[in-house]
Amino acid sequence: MNEPRLYIDGRFVDAHSPRTIDVINPATQEIIARVPHADATDVNAAVAAARRAFETAPWRDTTAQERGRILFRLAQVVRDNAARLAELETINNGKPIVESEFDIADVATCFEYYGGMATKIHGDVVPVPDNALSLALREPIGVCGQIIPWNYPLLMAAWKIAPAICAGCTVILKPAEQTPLTVLELARHFEAAGLPPGVVNIITGLGDTGAALTAHPDVDKIAFTGSAEVGKIIMRSAADTLKKISLELGGKSPNILFADADFEASVDGALFGLFINQGEVCSAGSRILVERSIYKKVVDAMVEKARGIRLGNGLDRATKMGPLVSREQLERVMAYQTVGKGEAKLALGGGRATGGELDRGLYCEPTIFYDVDNSARIAREEIFGPVAAVIPFEDEEDAIRIANDSDYGLAAAVWTRDIFRAMRTVKRLRAGIVWVNHMQPTFVEAPWGGYKQSGIGRELGKWGVEEYLHVKQVHINLNEAPIGWY
Ligand code: NAI
Ligand code: MG
Repeated sequence: MNEPRLYIDGRFVDAHSPRTIDVINPATQEIIARVPHADATDVNAAVAAARRAFETAPWRDTTAQERGRILFRLAQVVRDNAARLAELETINNGKPIVESEFDIADVATCFEYYGGMATKIHGDVVPVPDNALSLALREPIGVCGQIIPWNYPLLMAAWKIAPAICAGCTVILKPAEQTPLTVLELARHFEAAGLPPGVVNIITGLGDTGAALTAHPDVDKIAFTGSAEVGKIIMRSAADTLKKISLELGGKSPNILFADADFEASVDGALFGLFINQGEVCSAGSRILVERSIYKKVVDAMVEKARGIRLGNGLDRATKMGPLVSREQLERVMAYQTVGKGEAKLALGGGRATGGELDRGLYCEPTIFYDVDNSARIAREEIFGPVAAVIPFEDEEDAIRIANDSDYGLAAAVWTRDIFRAMRTVKRLRAGIVWVNHMQPTFVEAPWGGYKQSGIGRELGKWGVEEYLHVKQVHINLNEAPIGWY
């Protein structure tokens, strides 16, 4: 049995808490590891280590070049161990190995990108109307609590850790209870990569561990990715100590198919946009809006193609859809399948996927509902599984109205060959990410985050590091004489 411990102050240590969490492989439901459920004492220890590291040498005095080199070395460590990390990701999360390999490559790229950025964080010289030199310096925000979900376990850790190190912060990261293994594996290499003790601490635990981190008076900032429900709890809790927060929450992203789009490409995009990663994607194009004139044809083509999606153990290279991450998640998704049957017409799937090896795992049928009204629960609530809600629309105006009629605003996509229509639509969509004739491409260079209840702040690119930086105004008087007022 793999029994990783907490990673605090540069060492793997036993938890104070006697409680543990079983970690499973969702393809077989076997217990593959047992990790500590960190309690308040453990959280205190991790925060103290991060605080000490932030305020003392060597980290306090580290140069941007040194931080960049550490990040480059982390990228290299990830590449050197890519096969092992990808396999572990699939065993723990369930996703197809090919997708894990992409994720791990993106992890390395993320560290590398922020390694390059470390030396490009510039302050400003401000032209004040005085005989003075006015500066705006950039400084690290401090000790950061980072709480992440289970859908892209190591990638979400990289999105959080990389910009924080780049900025000179220190970190206490809590992976999701379902998927703590890959980031703990990576932590084994932190010292060799040159990270001083205490700069990045990893604590495993349930929601209450995250809550203790959020409430902790010595944490300066919380970065969270997960459900809107928990995002709101975090925002309330952070208010007591006025922590800085960034939140990347859920979505119900519209994928708009106009009749003039390339038919094959848009149908393919509708399926890819939703079924990739078993639908466990914050930016999943889970509302598929289709122009009335092609509506029937699109639903038929989606069903035809989705029938061929091969479910199975993610370690099998032929697998295109693995199990959902946990029993809880499968049950949540199945509850929505039941809700959907009362709200709309079912074209495909609608239940748990069974038969052969699938019986052992937590598999869910690719599911397509059509004739969904945008007021239906399956059109309004994030399902986070392979469940599509196909909604017809009459014209451009109607499409935009339906697309924007959502509490969320993370992503959106539009498929059309008409550049004017594309640009009109892009401009009016209330979403933080809009794809034209594509769905889901994500690059570390480009900003990521939501409008409305999909979150606060932006990750990735130059925007991502801003969330970890303060601005300090420095005024240097160049007059040698007294002020002379009194
Ligand atoms: P969750 O939001 O409860 O969990 C995400 C992370 O927050 C985990 O690390 C968890 O331990 C932590 N957490 C839970 N309660 C907390 C609290 N009170 N204070 C601080 N941290 C806390 O998500 P869960 O329960 O795994 O999934 C529920 C639904 O959330 C999914 O069905 C999906 O709709 C949505 N979700 C959205 C994600 C996204 O990327 N937008 C990612 C994961 C889930
Ligand atoms: Mg939860």
